[in-house]
Amino acid sequence: MRTLIIYATKYGCTEKAAAILKSKMHGEVLLVNIAKEKAPDLEGYDNIILGGSIYKGKIQKALTQYIKAKLPLLLHKRVGLFICAGEPEPVRTRELECAFPKELYNHARVKEVFGYEICYEKLNIFDKFIMRTIKDITKSSADLSQEKIEKFAETICLP
Ligand SMILES: Cc1cc2nc3c(=O)[nH]c(=O)nc-3n(C[C@H](O)[C@H](O)[C@H](O)COP(=O)(O)O)c2cc1C
Repeated sequence: MRTLIIYATKYGCTEKAAAILKSKMHGEVLLVNIAKEKAPDLEGYDNIILGGSIYKGKIQKALTQYIKAKLPLLLHKRVGLFICAGEPEPVRTRELECAFPKELYNHARVKEVFGYEICYEKLNIFDKFIMRTIKDITKSSADLSQEKIEKFAETICLP
C-alpha cells in the first residue's frame, strides 16, 4: 500500500502530526510539504492524505490551491483529511468542515482534528500580537492527540 501525505505548516505542528501519522501507517509513505516541494503524480498512490493548520479560520493557501487543481483526481482516490487547530469544540469541527471543498469532505474516508501546538517563543511579531491581544495568550501550550492520529491511520488503511 502506498500513501502520500501532503501537508502545509507554519510553525511545524502539522509537520510533526504528519510525521507521527507516517510512523503509524503500513507500507510506503511519502511526506510532501506543499509550500516547499512539488507533489508527485497521484496515480501511483492508494491513499492521499491532506492536512493543514488553521489561521484565522482557514488552512494554508498553498494547500487550498493544490486541492483545487487536483480535485477531480482526488475524488477518485481514497482520501483522508486532517487539520491542526487550537479552537475548542464545536468551532474546530466546523473549521475542519470549512477547510476543504464540500464534495471532497463528503468523499473522504476519514477526517479529523488532531489538536494543536502553540510555541509562543517561535511566533513572529504579528502572530504574537494577535495571540496576546485577541486571545490573551502569552505562553506555549499543546494538545496533539496521538490517539486520534493512530485511529486515523487505522481507518484509512482498512480494506
Ligand atoms: C496567529 C494565530 C492564529 C490562529 N488562528 C486559529 C484559528 O482561527 N482557529 C484555530 O482553531 N486555531 C488557530 N490557531 C492555532 C493553530 O492552528 C495551531 O497552533 C496549529 O497547531 C498550528 O500548526 P502549524 O504549526 O502546523 O502551523 C492560530 C494560531 C496562531 C499563532
